[in-house]
Amino acid sequence: MCGIIGIVGNREVAPLLVDALKRLEYRGYDSAGVATIKDGKLDRRRAEGKLANLDRKLGEEPLAGHVGIGHTRWATHGAPTEANAHPHFCNGVAVVHNGIIENFAPLRAELMAKGATFYSQTDTEVVAQLLSAYRQEGLAPREAMQKALGRFEGAYALAVLFEDQPDMILGARSGPPLAVGHGQGEMFLGSDAIALAPFTDEITYLEDGDWVVIKRDLLEIHDRTGKLVERRRQKSQGAAYVVDKGNHRHFMEKEIYEQAEVVSHTLAHYIDFAEGRVKFESSLIDFANLDRLAMSACGTAYYAGLVGKYWFERFARLPVEIDVASEFRYREMPLTGRMAALFISQSGETADTLASLRYCRDHKLTIGAVVNVRESTIARESDAVFPTLAGPEIGVASTKAFTCQLSVLAALAMIAGRARGTLSAEDESKMVRALVEAPRLFNQVLTAIQPQIEMLSRELSRFKDVLYLGRGTSFPLALEGALKLKEISYIHAEGYAAGELKHGPIALIDETMPVIVIAPHDRHFEKTVSNMQEVAARGGRIILITDETGAAATTLETMATIVLPVVDEIVAPILYALPVQLIAYHTAVFMGTDVDQPRNLAKSVTVE
Ligand code: G6P
Repeated sequence: MCGIIGIVGNREVAPLLVDALKRLEYRGYDSAGVATIKDGKLDRRRAEGKLANLDRKLGEEPLAGHVGIGHTRWATHGAPTEANAHPHFCNGVAVVHNGIIENFAPLRAELMAKGATFYSQTDTEVVAQLLSAYRQEGLAPREAMQKALGRFEGAYALAVLFEDQPDMILGARSGPPLAVGHGQGEMFLGSDAIALAPFTDEITYLEDGDWVVIKRDLLEIHDRTGKLVERRRQKSQGAAYVVDKGNHRHFMEKEIYEQAEVVSHTLAHYIDFAEGRVKFESSLIDFANLDRLAMSACGTAYYAGLVGKYWFERFARLPVEIDVASEFRYREMPLTGRMAALFISQSGETADTLASLRYCRDHKLTIGAVVNVRESTIARESDAVFPTLAGPEIGVASTKAFTCQLSVLAALAMIAGRARGTLSAEDESKMVRALVEAPRLFNQVLTAIQPQIEMLSRELSRFKDVLYLGRGTSFPLALEGALKLKEISYIHAEGYAAGELKHGPIALIDETMPVIVIAPHDRHFEKTVSNMQEVAARGGRIILITDETGAAATTLETMATIVLPVVDEIVAPILYALPVQLIAYHTAVFMGTDVDQPRNLAKSVTVE
């Protein structure tokens, strides 16, 4: 995680570095720092906590110079203190790093044995120390870089300044993303195109193992072996996006309310409205001839995948193997028979998801990716890319990316169903109509339930634990609801399959643990009502999220019943995501937590 930026500019760069870091803060916000070179001298400012602290510090003690690097940190090695904040310095070398140098301990020991003194607990400092050691041995910057990179194990995106080379920055990538931005007499390095958007829309994405030299009018790209290589220069879409909150208090709120628009936009990519059918994707995934589909993702994207599993199995009769990517990558799952693999990721950079993808690719599976960032590594390493058109998602807690992922998975399950002859044209057209009409309901639903959820959230904020229950596709939603609540309000929450209640969690039920039940009036409804009865019989307080039919069909006393319109079952998980998101959002707002940047988390997780 962490965000990095580097600028070889022709104006004061400190404000530009901070501006870029603002756009990268979603990658981490434990500390931030910038370094510049002025009159042949390196200098830096670093501050614990949010970027605003660094900004304040720069206001008090400005930093001059036209060349500089910057960093926003998600702490891995060492506490989020100023001493551990990047840039790390060593004898005229300054380094910012995203990733983990896994063999930092032996490298550190080796350098210390030669007399080096370390000033931080970070893995990153070995990069500065090793580069400095090689420079002292007489190596030029490029040689030092090539030699040092050969010694690092793990993952890195790096930007490096050398005090004696004041018009040059070196960058390197192995794992986490790094892009070069081409300016007018200026050159930039950044973790993503959004960071570079204020400066340029001409981008070159680096490939794994690449390292670069940038100067005002020079870009030199070397591959892992040091050979000079060419990489494509392309127009980035990052510049098109305005990254602000509009009239909303938080990005998360804005993103919840954007869902009608972005889901509709995403569906339009996959659905032929005139024909009332899913557009046939002449993609490389030959659904008709598969025995099994492997799926993997992390966090919210994984829960989208879990919903997808129900759909692929039900509508396409296609068995799905799904696991969180951090397990999938090490399971040594036998990939036999006719299989394809599908990976889901908002950022397209999540390290575990990428490693799972590579595992499947090494086993010669066809790879599909449902991704939001089209230029991402996961997209680039996939055979078939199925974009979600959610636009940049800034709130760390994923909302609109989730409903867009569900929309794409629904379309893919239908494409697979059609290809496998398991979904009739009538059913397909019914589902397509339901999906197309769904986004129109979103704003209506949000407006209708918002006041009730705001009041409910006030009550929820008094509790220490909350249980979420659901069956069928509502089960992954229960998991997602619990994840959303815990990650932004810090209230402990668990999601369970409603039928599992009696196998353990029921022991926890009393009046101090509200139970949120997600239960559209579908074919599971009666069974879920029985589970609610079990909760009620033990004095548990129920918050029921259901539809008009469900609300009319139950007489159980609840703490609150949130009523949604009746929708087709393919739409239900998408629509029911809205109350689940709003509950977490309003509870967090009421508790006064940092909704968009919850503690300890980061949006893009490029470490294991
Ligand atoms: C982090 C984010 C989550 C996200 C997960 C997977 O944990 O906070 O919102 O769901 O990573 O990220 P991806 O970019 O692969 O969807």
